Amino acid sequence: MATLTSKIVLVTGAAGAIGSAVCAAVTRGGGTAIATDLKAGGAIAYALDVTAEKDWSRVMADIERAHGRLDGLVNAAGIVALGTVEQLDFATWRRVLSINLDGAFLGCKYAMPLLRKQGGAIVNLSSVSGLVGGHNLAAYNASKGGLSLLSKSVALHGARLKPPVRCNAICPAFVEGPMIEQIAQSARNPDLAREKMPQEIPLGRVAKPGEIAALCAYLLSDEAAFITGADVPIDGGLTAR
Ligand SMILES: NC(=O)c1ccc[n+]([C@@H]2O[C@H](COP(=O)([O-])OP(=O)(O)OC[C@H]3O[C@@H](n4cnc5c(N)ncnc54)[C@H](O)[C@@H]3O)[C@@H](O)[C@H]2O)c1
Repeated sequence: MATLTSKIVLVTGAAGAIGSAVCAAVTRGGGTAIATDLKAGGAIAYALDVTAEKDWSRVMADIERAHGRLDGLVNAAGIVALGTVEQLDFATWRRVLSINLDGAFLGCKYAMPLLRKQGGAIVNLSSVSGLVGGHNLAAYNASKGGLSLLSKSVALHGARLKPPVRCNAICPAFVEGPMIEQIAQSARNPDLAREKMPQEIPLGRVAKPGEIAALCAYLLSDEAAFITGADVPIDGGLTAR
């Protein structure tokens, strides 16, 4: 298990399958997870719409008052919309790009002043869809491909800082949770779609959110001090062929 003793980590999309598992992994590693999502309440400390600049500045000001610094940021908020370039309407395209790409840009931008105080790490939830295309994933592919390259730019900027701020993207394939259920539901035959997902993965199954969270926790930890600017697949071998 990664050691995150005393690290303060902000997680977006923390009500979701992966975001909530990341918060649990940060806490298990000895850190403090600041959970954010569209609505506050329960485990979610702050309402933070990642597309809203004013939300980012409000939450960062609050964290600065409370902790004086930030050690990690995990951009896990995201949506998927299925559709080919011909099927997608412009509003859907913009919504996907806005949440998945603009949201992570704003996160990196607004977290950086607090991360650079003592050095830190950013993990962006990209996807195998940021590495390879799908005929019906035009907007999602574009958003995740953009996020992977944004992560490299942020990493190169962060490497010039003293102390440095690292930034990596991770690229899961199917992960148990509402997002793959939404994908199955939008298929003509949801049962068949559910059955086919694990068959597309060489390891023969979909990932558990905790497996994705463990990689996030490692990349946030000092054990990963020499890893930055990477796109790390966590896909059961999907992109190996
Ligand atoms: N689930 C998968 O199979 C899979 C695979 C590869 C990559 N990913 C990526 O991992 C990330 C997390 O996925 P997940 O499986 O936890 O999805 P999820 O649907 O379980 O959770 C996503 C969370 O993001 C939140 N969110 C949506 N719009 C938001 C906004 N504007 N501001 C703040 N929060 C917002 C939702 O409320 C939700 O809690 C996403 O970026 C997704 O694209 C998921």
